[in-house]
Amino acid sequence: MSILEKHKYLETNATALLIGAFAVVTIGGIVEIAPLFYLENTIEKVEGVRPYTPLELTGRDIYIREGCYVCHSQMIRPMRDEVERYGHYSLAAESQYDHPFQWGSKRTGPDLARVGGRYSDEWHIDHLTDPQSVVPESVMPKYGFLANRLIEPEHIADRLSTDAMVGVPYTSEMIELAKADFAAQADPNADTAGLQERYGSAAFPGGKDVVVSNFDRQPGITEMDALIAYLQVLGTMVDFTTFQPDMAR
Ligand code: HEC
Repeated sequence: MSILEKHKYLETNATALLIGAFAVVTIGGIVEIAPLFYLENTIEKVEGVRPYTPLELTGRDIYIREGCYVCHSQMIRPMRDEVERYGHYSLAAESQYDHPFQWGSKRTGPDLARVGGRYSDEWHIDHLTDPQSVVPESVMPKYGFLANRLIEPEHIADRLSTDAMVGVPYTSEMIELAKADFAAQADPNADTAGLQERYGSAAFPGGKDVVVSNFDRQPGITEMDALIAYLQVLGTMVDFTTFQPDMAR
């Protein structure tokens, strides 16, 4: 039998084709999956990465609710054009507490993985309220209504416990004091010692202190406060002036 005839047998015999296809997929699967079992950990531990504060976590939920991910990715690939535009490529550790992750592949707008600290709070207020007022050619929708929606953080402790169930290291103290920490981060006049003790550089060496601000520049804690708090922390946890990738892996 020539090779073409052998192939004809496979192509005209459904059972043989199924068995053959199964064998090929199995070998491919094993090659991809088996090495993962021999790595101690597929996520390299990186200094400074911490769980989101209650206010940031709330902002993240609003980001998901509003579908920002439909137009924005949060993963900088290690290609030169991306790194030059957005900053250091994303590390797995930077999204290890993201449930669900926001990597994405659709970029109608720019990647947001390192947008934290790039703009002022005022810029974000203006941009979210009317994107065309700062970027005339923008096709981003307006989100000004977020500034009129006050947040009652009645479920914030449960929200933290839920993430703790899937492995985010929220301590019982963080959960118990979630409401207080939520309010403190949005109030520059508040006593933020406790918030920093739980989430700041003292608790996560190599990291930074939590950014405290009246993010939406108006009284009351609104969805705009929470969303901007989240945007301002994105990609800022790791200090890339001292970061050394673990090349031994
Ligand atoms: C229909 C697509 C679309 C949606 C939905 C969308 N955006 Fe955008 N976004 C864009 C585009 C396009 C730009 C670039 C032009 C501009 O700056 O407005 C942008 C820019 C941005 C920027 C500035 C990024 C930079 O590096 O300059 C931020 C921050 C941002 N968007 C946040 C959000 C948030 C938060 C949401 C959800 C509340 C959201 N976007 C929803 C399309 C979108």
